Amino acid sequence: MKKTNPFKFGSVVEEPYFTDRTTEQAEIEMVLSSANHLILISPRRYGKTSLIKKVVSSLDRPLIFLDLQLITDLNDFASQILRRVHRVFPLERLRSFFRNFRVTPTITLNPITNEIDVSFLSNSNQVLLLEDVFNLLDNLGSSNKKPIVVLDEFQDIKRLGTDTEKHLRAIIQHHQNINYVFMGSIESMMRQIFEEKRSPFYHFGQLMPLGKIPFSDFKNYIKEGFSDKTNDADTLAEIILTITHCQPYYTQQLAYTVWNRWDHQMSENELVEAAVEYLIQIHDNDYHRIWQNQNQTDKKILIQISRHHEQMLSQANLQKMGFSSASTLYSGLKRLSQQGYIIKDKANYQIDDPFFKSWILRKREE
Ligand SMILES: Nc1ncnc2c1ncn2[C@@H]1O[C@H](COP(=O)(O)OP(=O)(O)O)[C@@H](O)[C@H]1O
Ligand SMILES: [Mg+2]
Repeated sequence: MKKTNPFKFGSVVEEPYFTDRTTEQAEIEMVLSSANHLILISPRRYGKTSLIKKVVSSLDRPLIFLDLQLITDLNDFASQILRRVHRVFPLERLRSFFRNFRVTPTITLNPITNEIDVSFLSNSNQVLLLEDVFNLLDNLGSSNKKPIVVLDEFQDIKRLGTDTEKHLRAIIQHHQNINYVFMGSIESMMRQIFEEKRSPFYHFGQLMPLGKIPFSDFKNYIKEGFSDKTNDADTLAEIILTITHCQPYYTQQLAYTVWNRWDHQMSENELVEAAVEYLIQIHDNDYHRIWQNQNQTDKKILIQISRHHEQMLSQANLQKMGFSSASTLYSGLKRLSQQGYIIKDKANYQIDDPFFKSWILRKREE
């Protein structure tokens, strides 16, 4: 009998909460064992971070992982990289390199956490800083244990000044001892960075879009989680996946909620319905806030996509539903995609959060 909930959502998942992704793991390993870099793109919460951490943990190579969303400027960028370098390389080893830095970092060691705090004078030349720190990474690497440097939410590089991409690319293009992994959740911006000819990072590595988890794998995973709750875990898993469309995070969240609120009196359908109801309720405030922040066009788009969730909606389909101008529709779709509320799957649009979709439909009926 499982005593603890077998489903997990929100943070990075490892075994036993991790399923499938075998071909993706093999492909990533292949890139990382070559001299190439990887560009991993998917909407938020599809499992990029979990996947890359899983692959790297099996490799016995130093990992430097930095989420650019948290970075405020280039000075901060350089400091945060150094802090993470220190987590995998001892200070002794770093010291000789620091001597060659053109901008000397001030380093304080916290004796309790054994973490370092790094700062550079605020008037330092930021490009030199970045250069020194990234070149340190390359110098630390050796050909048999190349560090893997993961820059998560890489599209945020655009926030760090207009020339940052250009500078960063100029620095790291010479690196022989590192595999870089660039991950991002805003597909349009990631493609702009890596697929547009004029962009400094044009074709910088192997592009890999990460999709949802295939229905049959996800179904087996969910069935297993419910195996001692019901004899009909098969049906239950199918109902859950029909609602979440195999989106990894929402699927785990719904399964988790159904498991937690299990009631032997209820049928599989009723259990899932009650769980969805519960999730809509606890997110009611968030959804209200999101809704209020949308302009009329975007609200209209969200409603149409919600209503037609089961059939695929392309921009052309949407156009027929009363949008006076194609350009208004286009910019609305772009805005909503960038904010992550809608997902473009091939040429068709879906609402990312299935419970937000239900919330919208419900509000319309009230
Ligand atoms: N391989 C997987 N198997 C099962 N669930 C997964 C898997 N990958 C991701 N998830 C679910 O999605 C959630 C978000 O994963 P995460 O790796 O943080 O995604 P991302 O980095 O793309 O935002 C996890 O907490 C988990 O619930
Ligand atoms: Mg992530």
